[in-house]
Amino acid sequence: MIETFFVTTALPYANGPFHIGHIMEYIQADIWVRFQRMQGHRVHFVGADDAHGAPIMLKAEAEGVSPEELIARIAAGRPRYLEGFHIGFDHWHSTDSPENVALSQDVYRRLKAEGLIDSKPVEQFYDPVKGMFLADRYIKGECPKCHSKDQYGDACEVCSSVYSPTDLIEPYSTLTGAKPVLRTSDHFFFRLSEPRCVAFLHEWLGQPGHVQPQVANKAREWLSGKGDQALSDWDISRDAPYFGIPIPDAPGKYFYVWLDAPIGYLASLKSYFDSGKARANGEPRSFEAFLTDPDTRQIHFIGKDIIYFHTLFWPAMLKFAGPPYRVPDNIHVHGFITVSGEKMSKSRGTGISPLRYLEIGMNPEWLRYYIAAKLNANVEDLDFNPDDFLARINSDLIGKYVNIASRCAPFITRLFAGRLSGESHRGGRSLLSRLQSREECWSRVGLLYAEREFGKALREIGGFLDEINRYIDEHRPWDKAKVATEHHEVQQICSTALAMFWYVTVLLKPVMPETAAKVQDFLNLPDGHMAWGQHSFFPAGHIIQPYRHLMTRVDAKQLDALFELPATAGAESVPREKGASASQAAPPSPASAVPGAAKGPAAPAQAPATLSIDEFKKVDLRVARIAAAEQVAGADKLLKLTLDLGEETRTVFAGIKAAYDPAALVGRLTVMVANLAPRKMKFGISEGMVLAASGEAGGPFLLSPDSGATPGMRIS
Ligand code: 2FM
Ligand code: ZN
Repeated sequence: MIETFFVTTALPYANGPFHIGHIMEYIQADIWVRFQRMQGHRVHFVGADDAHGAPIMLKAEAEGVSPEELIARIAAGRPRYLEGFHIGFDHWHSTDSPENVALSQDVYRRLKAEGLIDSKPVEQFYDPVKGMFLADRYIKGECPKCHSKDQYGDACEVCSSVYSPTDLIEPYSTLTGAKPVLRTSDHFFFRLSEPRCVAFLHEWLGQPGHVQPQVANKAREWLSGKGDQALSDWDISRDAPYFGIPIPDAPGKYFYVWLDAPIGYLASLKSYFDSGKARANGEPRSFEAFLTDPDTRQIHFIGKDIIYFHTLFWPAMLKFAGPPYRVPDNIHVHGFITVSGEKMSKSRGTGISPLRYLEIGMNPEWLRYYIAAKLNANVEDLDFNPDDFLARINSDLIGKYVNIASRCAPFITRLFAGRLSGESHRGGRSLLSRLQSREECWSRVGLLYAEREFGKALREIGGFLDEINRYIDEHRPWDKAKVATEHHEVQQICSTALAMFWYVTVLLKPVMPETAAKVQDFLNLPDGHMAWGQHSFFPAGHIIQPYRHLMTRVDAKQLDALFELPATAGAESVPREKGASASQAAPPSPASAVPGAAKGPAAPAQAPATLSIDEFKKVDLRVARIAAAEQVAGADKLLKLTLDLGEETRTVFAGIKAAYDPAALVGRLTVMVANLAPRKMKFGISEGMVLAASGEAGGPFLLSPDSGATPGMRIS
């Protein structure tokens, strides 16, 4: 039976470029979508930017642009990543769109009509200078327990105690430094604790397949409330100034971003339908007719950090809003991606910049394969480990898969002018028939893909690859090619192995669509021949193209380049993006460009965007003495510096190897950025950045303070 799916991935905040965590989720969903399409199912795969909320409003303000301009700039950068990693969304939209305004207000009105919206006064900290209520993250003060200074309004990073902002000693607004005052305003609440909601959610979570069992257990825990953590109603309103969707009949009130964000899935779908793209994609019905069809399946891929929103609020909102809204059919939750065991920061990502990966010429299908090989259907974290990456690509993908074609095709080209045998080889028939068999190959691997057990699917395929290689090794076409009377058998062996290679390529096609297209070209196969369930052999006389490299090996140097700093002398807290403005990436420091540090195009010498004196003051510039300078084994451009800051020492990896002999650096004073977030690199953690000048005349030239300066001195 042909099924119809509506598939989404979590909508990324529109205040920064994609990081590797986003790309991992999109690759997971994209593989699944491609697989379903290969089964003949109809899939509509949509995404959007999550554009609302205070952080985006404040970021735009700090940059002196409107939120709409900020969002548009971020959106303009999206296609490079999506196309670069072969992620095939059918449509990309924004939550800041007329469709989302209409749908969010409609959902709200319906929930209100159902009696599920309440209003009550809420007392909250307010910044009298900025004239706005402050979320916890904008309030800091002294921890009431351990008395550490500058702790956030909800928890202490030093002693880990959790409290409310009103418990902070000497609280201040991080936006203006003003002392916040308590103010009351009316808020709207979605009555999640209402018995109808609770009963519905218990029932929905109890139906198998909606969510993974461990996710259902977690959601049930929240639903039942534990101790003093009783299930509470959900505050869905924010007061002006706020960048969001106005609440109907409530001047000055906006929907909290998390209300309109998931509705953005539907807004994107609606825009996809209204734009005619759905029709072009084989869906003639209207948005409403499509959604209300009981056979449509609504599927969300999300990360484990947003389970709460997607398994409680979202299904309940949809259920009680009523048709055409439908409750999700599946929420597929994945874990986080870590890099060499290090956790990812939601806002900063990890040490891997997806754009840098592409810019230094790494093959996107290596990453797709690697991620697939490590994914399963559980909510487990996935670690990107450079050594493991290199081993898996070079030994599995190149050594076992590509090698089949590169070993066999040249004999066909050289001895038979590209002509394949129409007969399979006796020695390979039993393996060939297993690869052609629905039960033994296609259904088995297909089930694993369908269940998102991609690692298991690739292991199953890996087993076939081992057998194919054993078959080739056993029949040694290279020996037989030396004996003219055995050429007929060489043609049969290589044709049989290439047929097996063809089937395996189809099995791998959801993961590596571009490679599959190259193989199709090289084997000279018509379109229908790359469909799931191949079982025919080559027709007699079929001619293939001469073998050309399908995929190169990973060079360890590429991984070094991926982890090295792109174009600066020190560590950046955010991977720098080509052409990105200062807001998308770490601000280019005034004198930090080091030519030759990156393989990608040199960053243009742009004048930095203006920044206020307050913003500049956030950069903690210090005099540092280089206490030690060492070569870094395996790094082309980096030196490891130990910097003495008076009361502490820091390790910084700086891209200055080409210009400085480490021994000559020891003892000299320089300038460092002391408050950059530490960055995990392949060689260790870099805890800051030294400043250097560079330009057409060369460089890098390290900055030095005048005599008299001492380590640790502040620079202002
Ligand atoms: O956590 C996040 O990055 C959110 N922007 C995800 C939103 S998913 C959906 F609800 F829009
Ligand atoms: Zn504390």
